[in-house]
Amino acid sequence: MDKEELKRRAAARALDEVRSGMKLGLGTGSTAKHFVELLGERVRDGLDVVGVPTSEVTRADAERCGIRLTTLDEIDRLDITVDGADEADGKLDLIKGGGGALLREKIVAAASDRMIVIADESKLVDTLGRFPLPIEVIPFGLAATRRALQLAFDAAGCAGELKLRPGKDGHAFVTDGGHWIVDARLGRIPDAPRLAQLLSAIPGVVEHGLFVGMASTLVLAGATGIRTIER
Ligand code: 5RP
Repeated sequence: MDKEELKRRAAARALDEVRSGMKLGLGTGSTAKHFVELLGERVRDGLDVVGVPTSEVTRADAERCGIRLTTLDEIDRLDITVDGADEADGKLDLIKGGGGALLREKIVAAASDRMIVIADESKLVDTLGRFPLPIEVIPFGLAATRRALQLAFDAAGCAGELKLRPGKDGHAFVTDGGHWIVDARLGRIPDAPRLAQLLSAIPGVVEHGLFVGMASTLVLAGATGIRTIER
């Protein structure tokens, strides 16, 4: 089956959890975009929800779909965030940030009672790390931050190669928050909670793409159907 169809099916399954009156976090990426589009169809049929987008791209998509938006300054908690992932393991720990929105995605997920992750089943892995880990950094002092990152990888038992994510016209990719992203090719992350802790302690790191203990439900769509894994 076509991968886009699998993503749409996972998104449709997450939509089953949505009720009128809910406040929703709206993820970023091609799978989350399916959710936004399906949600927009339900809103046009009368579903009353309000959303907080996790990126400017998702904001534009949600506005185009007629979804009412708000901010985390105007409301307290969100009921559910629905977002995609670059990788998920069986404990529901994730790598996110392939689309560069990891900072807002993590802020929104942390303000949510539930985080539902939607994906096609190719995203499920035994051990995180095959997908390069995105790390959002402050441009100032990048060389020092890179050295600190290498020390963190060593301490967490990973061997890492870092690459500054390119953007348009040969410049660095710039996030919605005005920062840069380095992608770390680690191959295998034996202890994701430990690495997450070490990365968070580096001053030049704004946020990293390890989402540890945040997802409550993983919806995986495959050729044989949909399965959900709950934390
Ligand atoms: C964006 C993300 C996305 O959720 C992740 O990259 C998955 O995207 P896609 O659904 O297109 O595979 O973390 O920052």
